[in-house]
Amino acid sequence: MSDAIIRANRLTKEYGRGATLTRALRGLDLEIPRGSFTCIIGPSGHGKSTLMHLIGGLDRPTSGSVFIDGQEMSRLGSREMAALRARKIGFVFQFFNLLQSLTAAENVEMALMLAGVPEAQQKTRARELLALVGLEEKNAAKPGQLSGGQQQRVAIARALANDPPVLLMDEPTGNLDSAAEEEVMAVLERLNREGKTVILVTHSSEIAARAGNLVRVRDGQVEPAH
Ligand SMILES: Nc1ncnc2c1ncn2[C@@H]1O[C@H](COP(=O)(O)OP(=O)(O)O)[C@@H](O)[C@H]1O
Ligand SMILES: [Mg+2]
Repeated sequence: MSDAIIRANRLTKEYGRGATLTRALRGLDLEIPRGSFTCIIGPSGHGKSTLMHLIGGLDRPTSGSVFIDGQEMSRLGSREMAALRARKIGFVFQFFNLLQSLTAAENVEMALMLAGVPEAQQKTRARELLALVGLEEKNAAKPGQLSGGQQQRVAIARALANDPPVLLMDEPTGNLDSAAEEEVMAVLERLNREGKTVILVTHSSEIAARAGNLVRVRDGQVEPAH
């Protein structure tokens, strides 16, 4: 039996109703191997972001089930689901969503606080996480003083606050030039070598070519590999 850290069975997701009904996912099945570097590709509007929201427990499916590390999320109440998400998943979004008035270190410290890390350890741990993404020199910089690639690396450091086994990213380099994209990819590939399961949606065929595991989504389903 394969060791899947994420498993989706017969997933459907519908938005709206009647004339505005959209069937974003149509019975999608998926297994993501533990420790893989997985890229999800597919045309715009075919359900990739919807899938990321469901496997990250940010939204619930219309039908079907999602398992994280063997635990079925749909069986959990909202609080349990939030707790599971906090333990297992780090999210990184296209538009970094950093707090502009806080420094890089403070952005990460905030996540550590929310993760329940004791206050006395927050500063040291934030420095360690920023060093992990190659930003040891930028602790005191505010997002506005950082390049796009650096801001996205702060967002990755923040996502690592809970030390989650899975990093989930929806077009994390979609807003970056190719040099910045390379900075971010180098960090993600290192984190993957160190054991994280990395799952990212991308439009870039160059990035997809570097994935150990490539998943093609079309019309709300996974296309079989050819
Ligand atoms: N919150 C929403 N409400 C209504 N329709 C949505 C919502 N989110 C996505 N959709 C629709 O679901 C389909 C899949 O969208 P999405 O998952 O964002 O695709 P992708 O990320 O592949 O571009 C699209 O037709 C989109 O318009
Ligand atoms: Mg999308």
